Amino acid sequence: MQFFIDSADVGEIKKALAMGLCDGVTTNPSLVAKTGRKFSEVLKEITSLVPGPVSAEVTAVDHEGMMREAHALAKVADNVVVKVPLIVEGLRVVRDLSSEGIRTNVTLCFSPVQALLAAKAGATYISPFVGRLDDISEDGMAMVAQILEIYRAYDFATKVLVASVRHPIHVLEAARLGADVATIPFNVIDQLARHPLTDAGLKKFLADWEKVPKEK
Ligand code: E4P
Repeated sequence: MQFFIDSADVGEIKKALAMGLCDGVTTNPSLVAKTGRKFSEVLKEITSLVPGPVSAEVTAVDHEGMMREAHALAKVADNVVVKVPLIVEGLRVVRDLSSEGIRTNVTLCFSPVQALLAAKAGATYISPFVGRLDDISEDGMAMVAQILEIYRAYDFATKVLVASVRHPIHVLEAARLGADVATIPFNVIDQLARHPLTDAGLKKFLADWEKVPKEK
């Protein structure tokens, strides 16, 4: 299972890389806006830091505009994956980019049928947003389970990239289902290795070690 960081913040990305927990990056317009920096500048810096796939989203919603932006984004670096919204025009864009060999990440997926359409269009990644579904009292992980069931039944090559991850349980459930990737915000990445019993156990071991007679 791969871990991507869901961030456009270079400081966070560097920390995740140092932790060995950054196989790739996903950005979106809201995350880029939070940095206060120009998108082109941020994207160049992230793609040079991270060897893995870096998703960069188009902001046009018409076919011509999305294609134009996608071509410009794909030129920034070889590891750019073009993020396209799951709308009818977006699926057409995914089909066209896929025939040109440009990798895509279909974003804002909220149903297994939408995911089926993305796979049929030739998407490289599908991004089901689990947290946002949970927020409206639906079951985000049930959607992921159904997508995996469909993709496995038809042997689709599209990878399931679990998005809108809010806490370590989302990561656990994505892993148990066998999702290909989880894209995780830095605050959640930072929680993954931590456990209060680990901290308490280590503190006790170190305190007891002080009681052991020292070697001369
Ligand atoms: C995925 O690619 C999106 O950037 C992201 O996971 C959205 O998460 P949010 O619902 O926490 O904004």
